[in-house]
Amino acid sequence: MTLFRNIAVLTTFIATSTMAWAENSVDALLPLPAEIRTIFNNRCVMCHGEVIEGEAEVREDLIMVTDDDIRDTLSDATTLYEMIRDDEMPQEARLSFRLRRNTEMRARLKQIQDDYESKGEKAVLIKWLETALQIEK
Ligand code: HEC
Repeated sequence: MTLFRNIAVLTTFIATSTMAWAENSVDALLPLPAEIRTIFNNRCVMCHGEVIEGEAEVREDLIMVTDDDIRDTLSDATTLYEMIRDDEMPQEARLSFRLRRNTEMRARLKQIQDDYESKGEKAVLIKWLETALQIEK
Protein backbone atom coordinates (compact mmCIF):
# COMPACT_ATOMS: atom_id res chain seq x y z
CA MET A 1 0.00 0.00 0.00
CA THR A 2 2.78 2.41 0.92
CA LEU A 3 4.37 1.92 -2.49
CA PHE A 4 1.16 2.90 -4.30
CA ARG A 5 0.72 5.88 -2.00
CA ASN A 6 4.25 7.01 -2.70
CA ILE A 7 3.77 6.65 -6.45
CA ALA A 8 0.54 8.67 -6.22
CA VAL A 9 2.28 11.41 -4.26
CA LEU A 10 5.20 11.45 -6.66
CA THR A 11 2.92 11.63 -9.72
CA THR A 12 1.02 14.57 -8.23
CA PHE A 13 4.30 16.28 -7.43
CA ILE A 14 5.61 15.90 -11.00
CA ALA A 15 2.31 17.10 -12.49
CA THR A 16 2.22 20.23 -10.32
CA SER A 17 5.85 21.13 -10.92
CA THR A 18 5.39 20.85 -14.70
CA MET A 19 2.32 23.08 -14.50
CA ALA A 20 4.15 25.62 -12.36
CA TRP A 21 6.95 25.72 -14.92
CA ALA A 22 4.57 26.26 -17.82
CA GLU A 23 2.82 29.14 -16.07
CA ASN A 24 5.99 30.80 -14.93
CA SER A 25 8.09 30.50 -18.05
CA VAL A 26 8.32 34.32 -18.15
CA ASP A 27 10.65 33.94 -15.15
CA ALA A 28 13.02 31.97 -17.39
CA LEU A 29 13.62 35.26 -19.26
CA LEU A 30 14.48 37.38 -16.22
CA PRO A 31 16.57 39.24 -15.32
CA LEU A 32 16.96 40.52 -18.89
CA PRO A 33 20.56 40.50 -20.16
CA ALA A 34 21.82 44.08 -20.75
CA GLU A 35 21.90 43.66 -24.53
CA ILE A 36 18.24 42.55 -24.59
CA ARG A 37 17.18 45.37 -22.27
CA THR A 38 18.74 47.87 -24.70
CA ILE A 39 16.83 46.42 -27.67
CA PHE A 40 13.54 46.41 -25.73
CA ASN A 41 14.12 50.02 -24.58
CA ASN A 42 14.86 51.22 -28.11
CA ARG A 43 12.30 49.21 -30.10
CA CYS A 44 9.45 48.15 -27.84
CA VAL A 45 8.92 50.48 -24.89
CA MET A 46 7.58 53.28 -27.12
CA CYS A 47 4.29 51.35 -27.28
CA HIS A 48 4.71 49.21 -24.18
CA GLY A 49 5.02 51.66 -21.29
CA GLU A 50 6.52 54.95 -22.45
CA VAL A 51 4.76 58.11 -21.36
CA ILE A 52 4.05 60.16 -24.50
CA GLU A 53 2.41 63.55 -24.23
CA GLY A 54 1.47 62.86 -20.63
CA GLU A 55 -0.15 59.48 -21.22
CA ALA A 56 1.39 56.00 -21.02
CA GLU A 57 1.25 53.96 -24.19
CA VAL A 58 0.32 50.45 -23.03
CA ARG A 59 -0.67 48.38 -26.01
CA GLU A 60 -2.30 45.02 -25.24
CA ASP A 61 -1.73 45.63 -21.48
CA LEU A 62 1.98 44.84 -21.90
CA ILE A 63 4.50 47.04 -20.06
CA MET A 64 8.19 46.43 -20.81
CA VAL A 65 9.86 49.29 -18.91
CA THR A 66 11.39 47.13 -16.12
CA ASP A 67 11.85 43.43 -15.47
CA ASP A 68 9.13 43.59 -12.82
CA ASP A 69 6.73 45.15 -15.35
CA ILE A 70 7.43 42.27 -17.73
CA ARG A 71 6.87 39.71 -14.95
CA ASP A 72 3.56 41.37 -14.05
CA THR A 73 2.16 42.00 -17.54
CA LEU A 74 3.57 39.48 -20.02
CA SER A 75 1.06 36.64 -20.01
CA ASP A 76 3.32 34.09 -21.60
CA ALA A 77 6.85 33.85 -22.93
CA THR A 78 5.92 31.76 -25.96
CA THR A 79 3.72 34.56 -27.32
CA LEU A 80 6.70 36.92 -27.09
CA TYR A 81 8.86 34.41 -28.96
CA GLU A 82 6.29 33.83 -31.70
CA MET A 83 5.59 37.51 -32.29
CA ILE A 84 9.30 38.21 -32.76
CA ARG A 85 9.88 35.09 -34.87
CA ASP A 86 6.95 35.90 -37.17
CA ASP A 87 8.00 39.56 -37.61
CA GLU A 88 4.82 40.86 -35.94
CA MET A 89 6.75 42.98 -33.43
CA PRO A 90 7.96 45.59 -34.13
CA GLN A 91 7.43 45.45 -37.92
CA GLU A 92 3.67 45.01 -38.04
CA ALA A 93 2.94 46.92 -34.84
CA ARG A 94 0.41 49.69 -35.23
CA LEU A 95 0.34 53.00 -33.44
CA SER A 96 -2.59 53.80 -31.20
CA PHE A 97 -5.27 56.04 -32.68
CA ARG A 98 -4.00 59.17 -30.91
CA LEU A 99 -0.42 58.66 -32.17
CA ARG A 100 -1.35 57.49 -35.66
CA ARG A 101 -2.33 61.02 -36.61
CA ASN A 102 1.02 62.40 -35.47
CA THR A 103 3.60 62.63 -38.30
CA GLU A 104 6.52 62.71 -35.87
CA MET A 105 5.38 59.48 -34.19
CA ARG A 106 4.88 57.75 -37.52
CA ALA A 107 8.42 58.71 -38.52
CA ARG A 108 9.73 57.48 -35.17
CA LEU A 109 8.08 54.08 -35.62
CA LYS A 110 9.47 53.79 -39.15
CA GLN A 111 12.95 54.54 -37.78
CA ILE A 112 12.51 51.89 -35.07
CA GLN A 113 11.56 49.28 -37.67
CA ASP A 114 14.41 50.22 -40.04
CA ASP A 115 17.06 50.21 -37.30
CA TYR A 116 15.78 46.90 -35.89
CA GLU A 117 16.30 45.34 -39.32
CA SER A 118 19.58 46.98 -40.28
CA LYS A 119 21.22 46.12 -36.93
CA GLY A 120 20.12 42.47 -37.06
CA GLU A 121 18.36 42.69 -33.70
CA LYS A 122 15.80 39.99 -34.48
CA ALA A 123 18.57 37.38 -34.63
CA VAL A 124 19.86 38.52 -31.23
CA LEU A 125 16.38 38.26 -29.65
CA ILE A 126 15.66 34.87 -31.22
CA LYS A 127 18.96 33.39 -30.10
CA TRP A 128 18.35 34.60 -26.54
CA LEU A 129 14.73 33.32 -26.46
CA GLU A 130 15.58 29.90 -27.91
CA THR A 131 18.26 29.42 -25.27
CA ALA A 132 16.25 30.77 -22.33
CA LEU A 133 13.06 28.85 -23.25
CA GLN A 134 14.92 25.75 -24.49
CA ILE A 135 13.18 25.86 -27.84
CA GLU A 136 14.34 23.26 -30.35
CA LYS A 137 15.04 24.60 -33.81
C1 HEC B 1 3.96 50.80 -32.67
C2 HEC B 1 3.68 50.24 -31.39
C3 HEC B 1 4.35 48.96 -30.96
C4 HEC B 1 5.71 48.69 -30.90
C5 HEC B 1 6.88 49.56 -31.30
C6 HEC B 1 5.81 47.35 -30.34
N1 HEC B 1 4.56 46.84 -30.07
FE1 HEC B 1 4.11 45.04 -29.26
N2 HEC B 1 2.11 45.38 -29.49
C7 HEC B 1 1.58 46.51 -30.09
C8 HEC B 1 0.16 46.31 -30.32
C9 HEC B 1 -0.78 47.30 -30.97
C10 HEC B 1 -0.15 45.01 -29.84
C11 HEC B 1 -1.51 44.32 -29.91
C12 HEC B 1 -1.54 43.08 -30.75
C13 HEC B 1 -1.16 43.22 -32.21
O1 HEC B 1 -1.13 44.32 -32.80
O2 HEC B 1 -0.89 42.19 -32.82
C14 HEC B 1 1.10 44.47 -29.31
C15 HEC B 1 1.21 43.23 -28.72
C16 HEC B 1 2.40 42.68 -28.28
C17 HEC B 1 2.53 41.40 -27.60
C18 HEC B 1 1.38 40.48 -27.21
C19 HEC B 1 0.99 40.71 -25.78
C20 HEC B 1 0.00 39.70 -25.26
O3 HEC B 1 -0.14 39.63 -24.03
O4 HEC B 1 -0.63 38.99 -26.05
C21 HEC B 1 3.84 41.20 -27.37
C22 HEC B 1 4.48 40.01 -26.66
C23 HEC B 1 4.56 42.35 -27.89
N3 HEC B 1 3.65 43.24 -28.42
C24 HEC B 1 5.93 42.51 -27.85
C25 HEC B 1 6.62 43.55 -28.47
C26 HEC B 1 8.07 43.60 -28.59
C27 HEC B 1 9.01 42.53 -28.08
C28 HEC B 1 8.37 44.76 -29.24
C29 HEC B 1 9.73 45.25 -29.64
C30 HEC B 1 10.58 44.36 -30.39
C31 HEC B 1 7.11 45.44 -29.50
N4 HEC B 1 6.08 44.67 -29.01
C32 HEC B 1 7.01 46.68 -30.12
C33 HEC B 1 2.27 47.66 -30.39
C34 HEC B 1 3.65 47.79 -30.45
